[in-house]
Amino acid sequence: MRFVKVDSLEPGMKVARDIIANRNVVMITRGMVLSQTLIDRLNKNGYMGLYISDQFSEELEMEESIDPKLFNKGVEAVETQNIDEIANIATDIVVDISSKDNVCLDLFDLRSFDDYTFHHSVNVAVYSVIVGRELGLDKNDLNLLCFAAICHDFGKTKVPEEIIKKPAKLTDEEYDEIKKHPRYTFDILGNMHGIPAKIKQAVLCHHENENGSGYPLGKSGDDIPLFSKIIHAADVFDALISRRSYKEAYSPADAFEYLEGGKNILFDERIVNIMKKIIPAFPPGIDVVLSNGEEAMVLGHTGDTMRPIVKMIADGRKVNLETDPEYKKVRITKSGLMPEDYVGEVKELNESRFTEVEERETILVVDDSNLTLTQTRKILEPDYNVVTLPRGAEAVEYMKTHKCPDLVLMDIILPDINGMDCIRIMRGMAGFNCPVIFYTAKQDRETILKCRELDAVDYILKPVLPVYLKERVAVALKKYMIG
Ligand SMILES: [Fe+2]
Ligand SMILES: [Fe+2]
Repeated sequence: MRFVKVDSLEPGMKVARDIIANRNVVMITRGMVLSQTLIDRLNKNGYMGLYISDQFSEELEMEESIDPKLFNKGVEAVETQNIDEIANIATDIVVDISSKDNVCLDLFDLRSFDDYTFHHSVNVAVYSVIVGRELGLDKNDLNLLCFAAICHDFGKTKVPEEIIKKPAKLTDEEYDEIKKHPRYTFDILGNMHGIPAKIKQAVLCHHENENGSGYPLGKSGDDIPLFSKIIHAADVFDALISRRSYKEAYSPADAFEYLEGGKNILFDERIVNIMKKIIPAFPPGIDVVLSNGEEAMVLGHTGDTMRPIVKMIADGRKVNLETDPEYKKVRITKSGLMPEDYVGEVKELNESRFTEVEERETILVVDDSNLTLTQTRKILEPDYNVVTLPRGAEAVEYMKTHKCPDLVLMDIILPDINGMDCIRIMRGMAGFNCPVIFYTAKQDRETILKCRELDAVDYILKPVLPVYLKERVAVALKKYMIG
């Protein structure tokens, strides 16, 4: 079987794996033959694709991470917020995972827009337990961690659905409302009988960042409970590889790029490293493009997660990218679940679901490295108007003659006026009211504190990783939240 993106599905293809749908009428079972109507419905409901069986991928069989019945029970218990049931399911998930030497995380969880939160909660629980096991947590702790992970987004039910699913920029009030959900989860569990404090703390802090920039408490480093750190990384990873009403799904490899970019800023480094070890960057069954132009399907794992065994689409040849000398210099350049031009289709999809159409925002990037400016432009230009300037003085001048941009990305060390002074000057100018992200190669405590004093919403380490930059910019512009 192999994974086929929703926009590449064709009538007549044979389904290889059931879809577990809760709030949705689309029920897909193994063996079914796809019709165009069904494909259209899958697309409209926000599925990212399907596993199909064909001759090319016949030899490829994959295992579920946990028993699908147990997974489905978990999804239902999240939807009904049935705490007693969740306690049992958490124990069962830990038993299921503990019984295996290796938990297979090859298969994508296929879910509709509407089922997102429920599936997401169970996925986060599965990832969390596996990470917890790698960290050497005992069984009791794994049970508590699993329980907390399943419940982590309960509070979202108290936030209006239009805000959670809004595919357009959030207002400050809407953004603040979403930020309350960890506190809401804490309160929901607080009102229930006998929930251990460790679980309540874990859910309360699941959006705290390593550098203290998270919410609701702004805790940093080791003040953040270990359970929260685990749930946080698992949460963001699962959100990134999902298709949402406002964004397409990233491939696991791209989601790892985000986790990597956020190491020690958003996430605990140890946890990111474990996740990269246990979750395949290029899972079997997905299509990839190699740097020599060849197209292939991933067939299996090797010791190097970035270099799997692949099967060439053109002639069915099998190549082990880790060991084959002829492919030593060949890399996987694209494993996107969606083609590059998919952005356009997402907009169309959003427009049909929601009426709001937004204007492109302007981002001012100030950096003395030409390379950084070029790279940044390349990453952001598909979605924004990008203005690049090499010097602080020019940025100040720009502010005098132009309307305030929607976001400033500012390097710190610049030849004339340094980035921090530049922001100080801009803040004193009439009409300057946009968020600022510092763009820096420095990560020392002093720099971080200074950035904070200047009310920067974020800082991004260079060299910049494309997915990280794109997503942090979207978050700074309050387009959505991740997780
Ligand atoms: Fe959350
Ligand atoms: Fe979440």
